[in-house]
Amino acid sequence: MTETMSAAAIEGFGGPEVLRLVTVPRPLRINDEVVVRIAAAGLNPLDAKTRGGRGVAAAVRDFPAVLGHDFSGVVVEAPYEGFPLQPGDAVYGMIPVPRYSGSYAEFASVPSRCIAPKPVGLSHSEAAAVPLAALTAWGLIVEQAKAHERQRILIHAGAGGVGHFAIQFASYFGAHVIATGSARNLEWLRSLGAAEVVDYTTQRFEDELEPVDVVIDLIGNVHDNTGKRSLAVLRTGGLIINVPTGSWDGFAADCAAAGVRGTTFKAAPDAATLAVISRLLEQGSVRVHVDEMFELRNAAAAHQKLEAGHTRGKIVLRINETDSADR
Ligand SMILES: NC(=O)c1ccc[n+]([C@@H]2O[C@H](COP(=O)([O-])OP(=O)(O)OC[C@H]3O[C@@H](n4cnc5c(N)ncnc54)[C@H](OP(=O)(O)O)[C@@H]3O)[C@@H](O)[C@H]2O)c1
Repeated sequence: MTETMSAAAIEGFGGPEVLRLVTVPRPLRINDEVVVRIAAAGLNPLDAKTRGGRGVAAAVRDFPAVLGHDFSGVVVEAPYEGFPLQPGDAVYGMIPVPRYSGSYAEFASVPSRCIAPKPVGLSHSEAAAVPLAALTAWGLIVEQAKAHERQRILIHAGAGGVGHFAIQFASYFGAHVIATGSARNLEWLRSLGAAEVVDYTTQRFEDELEPVDVVIDLIGNVHDNTGKRSLAVLRTGGLIINVPTGSWDGFAADCAAAGVRGTTFKAAPDAATLAVISRLLEQGSVRVHVDEMFELRNAAAAHQKLEAGHTRGKIVLRINETDSADR
């Protein structure tokens, strides 16, 4: 195998233009890691925040730095003979960047706890769109909110990467889902399982809704005080989860004053949960939506679209040509 690989990397922090196609050393496998030949990489807002010097940028020590958490691809080196994933197996997962080199590259060496068999029936492009957003949605809806019947859950930004999974998980577990989005997405939000939808561009959700038990806040106060206004629709003792880091100064004090429970959240790689999510995708109970695909060399353009903030579902980078052949 070659010693080097192509990757989209940054030489310093800045706008989308700092993302360039470069040749870097191929990551070497150690301990329990699995080397994957990456077919496709999913984008997340965290990638753009890190590129700009926020997000997880504090841990970026060396340049060029290869960004990207999400991937789908094929195993080329396994850690040991009896490991359940072996060369040739299709896998997907989430890399803990920047402790590890990222997924905007031809290869990655990935800790075994971060990787699972690719869902059967999904292309690599579809699978690469799943991990971080779906693990976040699972953590919010299943682990934190404990979604169940007769529970009312308001999900802001329902049409985004996290939101479109969150709606589907919450409705799968029987909750009454209310989602916010703009007019062009309202019918789509209903098709994902939202029982009620609110167009945030023309309506104030706090004037429209009966009290809810849970708010999944994927916006914070960066747009029109969405986070703070959500306190007015929560029942006393209800739960609000503020997801975008740094988007709500004084969050804990505001929750206490409103008589509700509040928490933030951090997504983490988790192979066991990914395996459960795979089953839901394979049986068709949950679907992933890829809004647009870009070639690896056009990662900067992909970041521009990501940062515009109106992606429906996910954006994916195509890396290896074999993608469409392997479902
Ligand atoms: N803490 C963590 O572990 C963690 C994990 C994942 C994500 N996050 C954060 O959570 C946020 C959401 O992530 P994501 O991947 O879902 O983002 P995303 O895919 O970029 O979200 C885009 C969606 O947001 C919708 N939107 C934009 N402004 C809105 C508003 N004011 N009200 C309602 N919807 C609005 C857009 O719908 P329209 O086109 O209809 O406007 C679009 O579909 C980001 O800030 C991300 O960094 C945090």
